[in-house]
Amino acid sequence: MNDTKTASRTAGLGSTARHDAWWIEPATVAIGFGIFIVYATWRVLEGAYYEWGPYLSPFYSPKLAFDWWQWSPAILVLWVPALFRATCYYYRKAYYRAYFWDPPGCAVGHLGGERYSGESKFPLIFQNLHRYFLYLAIIVLGFLWYDAIVSFNFEGSFGIGLGSLVLLGNVLFLSNYTFGCHAFRHLIGGRLNCFSCSQATKTQLKAWQVVSKLNEHHMLWAWVSLFSVGFADFYVRMLATGTFTDIRLF
Ligand code: FES
Repeated sequence: MNDTKTASRTAGLGSTARHDAWWIEPATVAIGFGIFIVYATWRVLEGAYYEWGPYLSPFYSPKLAFDWWQWSPAILVLWVPALFRATCYYYRKAYYRAYFWDPPGCAVGHLGGERYSGESKFPLIFQNLHRYFLYLAIIVLGFLWYDAIVSFNFEGSFGIGLGSLVLLGNVLFLSNYTFGCHAFRHLIGGRLNCFSCSQATKTQLKAWQVVSKLNEHHMLWAWVSLFSVGFADFYVRMLATGTFTDIRLF
């Protein structure tokens, strides 16, 4: 394997001894992530059609309004989840491969020189701020849970609309993604040396096991929650523009 890696480095971009379709994964990431980035950027800058009835688009939550701020309120909020995802361990691997081609896959000829400093030097050293974006993302997630609960309140009466389920499903998927974070797993119990030393650490062990289950499928939750947050915004926008009519289930 080491020989294969060495060969791929000294040969040109994309050259490899691999026989599998290694390029499918980075190509899928490049297209899927690219579509989301274009859509999210457009929606954030649009600054309109982000609420309807009891529904608030997750791109605009929490809804912030200041006299001195003349632009889209989403700009004040969305940098938190954007940087949380951009510094996510899984996404780093995915977009390094998809966009930087350094390397595009294991044992595949790559762009860039032979000197590799990883994330120990500027600018990638800033990826180490991920844990701090996690703390901020958990706060934003709290607001999204609030929005999901409020979406069942139709002018003072309990009700269930299709939008209520869309917002609830979205915040569940986002929770699975956020609490399956590698940094959160470390925080919740991974940093301990002894799980059986006290009642508190035994409880932490149980929490760590749950988080580890989410962490096992972190890539899946990353993509499901990315789709769900985009769809939730799209659905609210369609209602706000009058394109869709919300289906009232109860
Ligand atoms: S590692 Fe992916 S969200 Fe933290």
